[in-house]
Amino acid sequence: MGNCFGSEPAADPKPSSTNLSTPTKQSTPGTSRDYSSGGGLSATSSSAGLSRFSAALSDDACLAGEILPIPNLKTYSFADLRNATRNFKSDMVLGVGGFGTVYKGWVDEKTLMPSKIGTGMMVAIKKLNPESMQGFEEWQSEVNFLGRLCHPNLVKLLGYCWEDKELLLVYEFMQKGSLENHLFRRNAAIEPLSWDLRLKIAIGAARGLAFLHTSDKQVIYRDFKASNILLDGSYNAKISDFGLAKLGPSGGDSHVTTRVMGTYGYAAPEYVATGHLYVKSDVYGFGVVLLEMLTGLRALDTRRPSGQHNLVDWLKPLLPQRRKLKSYMDARIEGQYSSKAALQASQLTLRCLEGEPRKRPSMKEVVDVLEQIAAMEKPRESKNRSTHSSSQHNGQSPRPYRSPRHPSNQGTLTGAGR
Ligand SMILES: Nc1ncnc2c1ncn2[C@@H]1O[C@H](COP(=O)(O)OP(=O)(O)OP(=O)(O)O)[C@@H](O)[C@H]1O
Ligand SMILES: [Mg+2]
Repeated sequence: MGNCFGSEPAADPKPSSTNLSTPTKQSTPGTSRDYSSGGGLSATSSSAGLSRFSAALSDDACLAGEILPIPNLKTYSFADLRNATRNFKSDMVLGVGGFGTVYKGWVDEKTLMPSKIGTGMMVAIKKLNPESMQGFEEWQSEVNFLGRLCHPNLVKLLGYCWEDKELLLVYEFMQKGSLENHLFRRNAAIEPLSWDLRLKIAIGAARGLAFLHTSDKQVIYRDFKASNILLDGSYNAKISDFGLAKLGPSGGDSHVTTRVMGTYGYAAPEYVATGHLYVKSDVYGFGVVLLEMLTGLRALDTRRPSGQHNLVDWLKPLLPQRRKLKSYMDARIEGQYSSKAALQASQLTLRCLEGEPRKRPSMKEVVDVLEQIAAMEKPRESKNRSTHSSSQHNGQSPRPYRSPRHPSNQGTLTGAGR
């Protein structure tokens, strides 16, 4: 087993979840987060640990097999996880996020106890930066939500460690890393994702969100972005990172009101403006990721010329126009889709990005439309292509701005700003 992106830590600054209520932070790249005043997670703010969310949900008989009444997780000691990662050795690092560092580790397939390096099953171990306890609430939320949710398009949380100041989470290992790595990092080992794979990933991630939204206790994910979509060895998409997830509105309310947290470029406008979080706020985030997949461009990139920093603001007016298709579609997938399919994908993106939440489609509808697009006839010359692209990519720029750092043209794409 191996992870072609996993051998070294992520070097690029990139958008990370943060408190969006302080405008001055918007232009500051990096990974800092603000967890003060509860970090927006009312369901897990108890210092008693894991009980509040569990109590809130277990009242309800809605759990129907896919949402467990209590987190079903293995508890690890710090020493267990130190052994599983060779003392958190740097060559075991898979990536670095706002929460801390993610290491690969090895556990026994049956007992899930640490095993000799290279034997048993590979796992991903996320270690909270121990200097602060700021991520505690996100850690709790992850345990309480993800520890109970079970769906093929959600990453499986296997266990956790909470020892003194050490907080760690153990996940199933996702062999192909994050969608963000595939879309925006230039690495000789990573081929550009083909149109077919982009659709497969979009459908998987949409199914994951649809499951959250349609469970009896609606769950709003709140941090939908390319770095939180992980891919297994067959490019099945699974949503990770439930640190900001919230229970949906109850008692006939249309939204919950909460502190504004999330990631610039992805968060829905009504949520950023008012703190009103709707189930459909997730649909907006999905639309942003869909636009990133169609264009190969980051949601936010302050190195693009002014007027183009925010991908949605820049390209939304072009999406309904068939004749503009070629100008914004990722050049690396040219020839792999029919213009009818691309236009439908653009129109779906546009609907997800509607300013008013109620005008956006449900995630169930999004899944249906994406499946119809995936079933559409391909252009003849692309029929025999492999699932990966793109031997035909000539590196030339599509008409809208492609900076020298655009992934079509050059190596690593860094810092989208936040
Ligand atoms: N289960 C996993 N399997 C394989 N790699 C993983 C797994 N979880 C995380 N990673 C790798 O570690 C990186 C960091 O993940 P992490 O979730 O900590 O941060 P992020 O999603 O990039 O940013 P943010 O902190 O804003 O969520 C990911 O981009 C991915 O490459
Ligand atoms: Mg993440």
